[in-house]
Amino acid sequence: MRRRLIAGNWKMHSTPDETESFISRFLPLIGSAEADAAIFPPFTSLDRAGRLLRSSDVRLGAQDVYFEAKGAFTGAVSPGMLVACGCRYVLVGHSERRHTFGDDDPIVRRKLDATLSGGLDPVLCMGETIEERRAGATFDVLEAQLIAALRKLPPDLFSRVVIAYEPVWAIGTGETATPEQAEEVSAWIRARVGAAFGAPAAERIRILYGGSVKPDNARSLLTLPNVDGALVGGASLDPEGFAAIISAGVR
Ligand code: 13P
Repeated sequence: MRRRLIAGNWKMHSTPDETESFISRFLPLIGSAEADAAIFPPFTSLDRAGRLLRSSDVRLGAQDVYFEAKGAFTGAVSPGMLVACGCRYVLVGHSERRHTFGDDDPIVRRKLDATLSGGLDPVLCMGETIEERRAGATFDVLEAQLIAALRKLPPDLFSRVVIAYEPVWAIGTGETATPEQAEEVSAWIRARVGAAFGAPAAERIRILYGGSVKPDNARSLLTLPNVDGALVGGASLDPEGFAAIISAGVR
């Protein structure tokens, strides 16, 4: 049985003090050992969050990473710096990185490789725009994103990848994919992984859904057979709401 992972992507929200206040309210609310919980605060909060979460089961992740270890790369943050802050995960290929910051498929691949070789687990994000869905191109888009990010990845590294399906049209819009849509795509991703990496790898990999997940729709998404968790944006900023989503994810 795959363990669920409920991850909160805070995007560009929360100072270190606000992060500390979130954590002090959040930790008493979650007691379950049946699902993994993770938060992805901004870079500037990671060190503080890492110290505060050290003795808890809540995991820490970063929203982005650069693919070099060190050097003259103004503004960039390396995998080693994230490890030093206590991170376990990195979001790679989030749609806001792809569309606002120009992270194209080759850059996503380099970040995924650097994440893995730096000892962090990537949460590979992928999804189609509304135009692509209307044009019937959803699976072509996902196929291209999957191949670019994962082609020829050695099996031992692949086993550390988490995939997040986030339809671009559902991110921050309040328009959630229906459970049928989320299940259809997640099942397709699992089958595609099986074709490329074998049935055991497909059975093991965790596939999350992201896009306007809220406490009131979490259960209908998190109980789907091929959905193993959620990547939550806006609703993860509220400790009570995020804790409620995590409880909905307990099998
Ligand atoms: P929202 O939950 O705010 O729609 O954001 C989803 C997302 O992009 C998580 O990475």
